[in-house]
Amino acid sequence: MTDVEPTTDLSVPAEPVMPAWEYAPAPESTEIVRLRERYGLFIGGEFVEPATGGTFPTISPATEEVLAVVSEAGPEDVDRAVRAARSAHDQHWRDLSGAERAKYLYRIARILQERSREFAVLESMDGGKPIKESRDVDLPLAAAHFFYYAGWADKLEYAFPHVEPRPVGVAGQIIPWNFPLLMAAWKLAPALAAGNTSVLKPAETTPLTALLLAEVIQQADLPPGVVNIITGAGATGAALVEHPGADKIAFTGSTDVGKRIQRATAGTGRRLTLELGGKAANIVFDDAPIDQAVEGVINGIFFNQGHVCCAGSRLLVHEPAYDELLDKLKARLGTLRVGDPLDKNTDVGAINSRAQLEKIGELVESGVEEGAQMYQPPCELPDRGFWFVPTLFTGVSQSHRIAREEIFGPVLSIMTFRTPEEAVEKANNTPYGLSAGVWTEKGSRILWMAERLRAGVVWANTFNRFDPASPFGGYKESGFGREGGVHGLEPYLRLEGRP
Ligand code: NAI
Ligand code: MG
Repeated sequence: MTDVEPTTDLSVPAEPVMPAWEYAPAPESTEIVRLRERYGLFIGGEFVEPATGGTFPTISPATEEVLAVVSEAGPEDVDRAVRAARSAHDQHWRDLSGAERAKYLYRIARILQERSREFAVLESMDGGKPIKESRDVDLPLAAAHFFYYAGWADKLEYAFPHVEPRPVGVAGQIIPWNFPLLMAAWKLAPALAAGNTSVLKPAETTPLTALLLAEVIQQADLPPGVVNIITGAGATGAALVEHPGADKIAFTGSTDVGKRIQRATAGTGRRLTLELGGKAANIVFDDAPIDQAVEGVINGIFFNQGHVCCAGSRLLVHEPAYDELLDKLKARLGTLRVGDPLDKNTDVGAINSRAQLEKIGELVESGVEEGAQMYQPPCELPDRGFWFVPTLFTGVSQSHRIAREEIFGPVLSIMTFRTPEEAVEKANNTPYGLSAGVWTEKGSRILWMAERLRAGVVWANTFNRFDPASPFGGYKESGFGREGGVHGLEPYLRLEGRP
């Protein structure tokens, strides 16, 4: 069968020949996406021109090509959108029965499922995330959120007994660029289910799936003004926050902007929820199934290029497991495929923007300067676009910036611990408190740890798991308020007289 010569020198064991595993390119076609050259603002059920005529481009971070030109909403447009939302609320939506509201939400959910490939491709084009993630995570979860909250719309009095739950009114909702459509779903589904109307502002680098969602909202025949989608950057967001007609502000993004929003709304009596940054500890004990933990750690930090508020960016390893875990992590890092987000084999896509790439680069440099050891596998990056090689740091101390600050990129800081108490101490030594992971074989240890970790979500022997029925949110500088589950309805309801 083979032409291999029989070895004559039996003293030298033959090296196993591992063929370099070449993947053929497996690009997802972009033909399903119909981009307009220019998008208006979605106000009162139709696309309208911005008052000032301002526009800005949105690019593909993988190619730096301009995908479309988008409108920039100024204060006048924000006002127009808030008025549209107000009149839709007062004249229609508020008094519609829960069962009727549910029908619209179910319709949106089903259309998202029907058009999911189109949405997934567009999400990867505009934001740079791998198609396998937008296809298998973002889209199914976005639809699931609408399905889930549709189910609550006619059951609010059972969710909140002994009170008459009433909507808050107009919600101003500002979302980030890391999960553009999914964050829109997290914001819109509970707000609409509870009888509120919305003015939604997507992030400036990733407006396109929100604008496609505007088309879905038309297709689902939602009453005009129930959902308004206005594009723009920080100034547009700030104008929405400052508008007195927005009864409630929901924000997901950086802690800095969250603090600014909290100051702007303080004392106004308007509702606020903030979902901000994180610096989660992923904690691996020596009794954990190490191979599974390796996968969980990799997924925890390299999923979505690490642009994840609940990313497991600090790995805390039990000392006896350190050498084995580190070897396996390094080996696994070398197998991650970095590149074209639209290739179905890609694990790590493009960094969302040049600004984010610079921020990651700056923090990584600080890690090297402060004395941590950097490891990057050999990795070829495309010539154009924004890319960062998956990176590990060992020798990290708790005072290093890479152990304290949110990098929001594919960079893992590794530290060790000797006892469970020390693990808890180190994990909680952060201004954030969004999520944590614990890897161990012992159920009792999981519960012991979960009781002590100051984090909104604690995953056990898994990481980055989401379900619309499960509340998500933070402690401390990670923000306040919960999204998901029954908890996620509360910020959108007046529950006066609640016992
Ligand atoms: P950002 O907080 O500026 O952007 C989030 C959203 O807020 C965008 O829609 C933006 O247009 C809007 N915005 C900006 N300034 C505003 C203001 N003054 N008033 C109202 N809305 C405003 O986040 P950025 O600058 O894009 O990212 C910086 C860092 O923030 C990242 O490196 C990461 O560490 C963190 N971040 C955390 C996110 C999370 O999910 N928790 C999401 C995005 C960023
Ligand atoms: Mg873009």
